[in-house]
Amino acid sequence: MRTCTTNAQLRAALQRHRTDNLSIAFVPTMGNLHEGHLNLVRRAKAMCDIVVVSIFVNPLQFGPNEDLDNYPRTLAADKEKLFSEGVHLLFAPGVEEIYPEGMQSQTVVSVPDLGDTLCGASRPGHFDGVTTVVSKLLNIVGPDVAVFGEKDFQQLSIVRKMVKDLCMPVDIVAVATARDDDGLAKSSRNGYLTSRQRSIAPLLHETLANTREAIACGFDNFLQLESHARMKLLQAGFEPDYFAIRDARTLRAVTDGTEEIAILAAARLGNTRLIDNVRLALN
Ligand code: PAJ
Repeated sequence: MRTCTTNAQLRAALQRHRTDNLSIAFVPTMGNLHEGHLNLVRRAKAMCDIVVVSIFVNPLQFGPNEDLDNYPRTLAADKEKLFSEGVHLLFAPGVEEIYPEGMQSQTVVSVPDLGDTLCGASRPGHFDGVTTVVSKLLNIVGPDVAVFGEKDFQQLSIVRKMVKDLCMPVDIVAVATARDDDGLAKSSRNGYLTSRQRSIAPLLHETLANTREAIACGFDNFLQLESHARMKLLQAGFEPDYFAIRDARTLRAVTDGTEEIAILAAARLGNTRLIDNVRLALN
């Protein structure tokens, strides 16, 4: 595995593979890699000849009072994991490589509507930061396929729309959420949890799964289901940010035309913000 820290190095390394007509899959990450990330890498490897992973903690997607400074940076351990998975290229640029003129004068890619709701409403500017950096990374790497996790379902939907709207020549592939045995979605932020918070945390997925079960059984008072779920989370010690039953395609309210429901939640345990979602196909 080769590590590149500049755009020029990465482009040069990939040029050889392109002239050999090899297909390229790309997995963007912010590092502190766990099984969820590695499942994305495995899917990438199964689909293409060459796998590129990026590790870049993107300042543009963090709000002023968020965890940018504390975000876990574990490059040496991450490299070992990627090497063991047979990754060909790691792109680990510094902030000045991605934002050479600073972030103030940065052109921003912004996806309307999908980016304004749910996490977009509680983290203003977050998704503009995500779509801007993902556009840059896709332009630098130029992959045939880019792999994203369903854990961040809204992010996945927004990236898909951006790629479609901007005619980017890349296929977006989604991978199911990796969970601990008790249902908690794996996340780099789980490491922030105290042992007491960690014991409460699986309730987020449990509440989502129970809500899905109720809908599958025909219960269709969504407002009541949402407020019941929020109350359960509050009682357990979460500060719920949102708990929403939505159309999985539009992330807006469910309508007669909805084919798949997404139930999405974000809630804080202490200072740690956890997100998760489950889906239900309607037939
Ligand atoms: P990060 O949180 O590191 O996640 C990188 C990728 O791993 C994302 O596509 C995310 O959905 C996926 N992922 C994380 N936890 C997962 C889990 N438990 N199961 C399955 N997939 C999981 O998401 C980002 O970084 C950034 O916003 C990024 C896209 C890299 C842009 O900066």
